[in-house]
Amino acid sequence: MTTLEIKNLSKHFGGLHVSNDISMSIKKGEIAAIIGPNGAGKTTLFNQITGYISPDNGKIFYKGEEITGSNPEKLVKTGIVRAFQVASLFYDETVYNNLHLAALSYHGKNWNFFSNRHASRDIEDHCRFILERLGLSKKAEVKAFELSHGDQKVLDIAIALTMKPTLLLLDEPTAGMSPDERVKMTRLIKAIHEEFELTTLFVEHDMDMVFGIADIIRVLVRGELIAEGNAADIQNNPAVIEAYLGYEVL
Ligand SMILES: Nc1ncnc2c1ncn2[C@@H]1O[C@H](COP(=O)(O)OP(=O)(O)OP(=O)(O)O)[C@@H](O)[C@H]1O
Ligand SMILES: [Mg+2]
Repeated sequence: MTTLEIKNLSKHFGGLHVSNDISMSIKKGEIAAIIGPNGAGKTTLFNQITGYISPDNGKIFYKGEEITGSNPEKLVKTGIVRAFQVASLFYDETVYNNLHLAALSYHGKNWNFFSNRHASRDIEDHCRFILERLGLSKKAEVKAFELSHGDQKVLDIAIALTMKPTLLLLDEPTAGMSPDERVKMTRLIKAIHEEFELTTLFVEHDMDMVFGIADIIRVLVRGELIAEGNAADIQNNPAVIEAYLGYEVL
């Protein structure tokens, strides 16, 4: 079954074609990487899938329904949830409050006027469950600014999980991390992908992570999808090697 279908997506900023006739089909349960050099259009592709910008041409279908041009809030409700390239946290709030606030806003309530006692308990339990699964329980009362960079990125993913994603998009989850933190994050993403039964799409420059956990890898260069396949297909693809010459990442 296809979760996300992208057909002939095009977007330009002035003379710059950031999405150039991109088509791809993302299957339910897939964990997939999007790779490509800086400025290839990876984040812009995520921005179009999640409704932050509209494509000039082309269509996006989610579970068979067209969602092209829908707004981000509406898409989150349908299960398309993202974590950003730069974590967007309330740095003066505790870890728990970051989750709780996100969950309340997802459920359309604010925490002073929360009316339904049972729903409130469910939300709190759900937040505690996510913290535990992501190894943040002991830091629940720590303020977000006091966390390590690695834990801040984990918290950002925890926040995304409060919104009950079906399709989770992660933009550079290991950016700026130490080698140890990267290994941990890689394991964590694989684990939550399985436990929360997600379809996961991640943008990443860390090739150990990409080749380690992605079922399928798609390569964007100058807005074009130049290759897709498993690790061996991609590592041996002449167009990919050519595109990465000088980057020494493969
Ligand atoms: N709103 C915008 N207006 C104009 N140009 C933009 C806009 N957003 C992105 N760009 C340009 O589009 C190109 C693609 O940007 P994008 O952020 O999608 O790249 P990326 O593949 O995510 O790169 P990185 O790996 O560095 O995150 C870049 O040249 C960028 O400067
Ligand atoms: Mg980017």
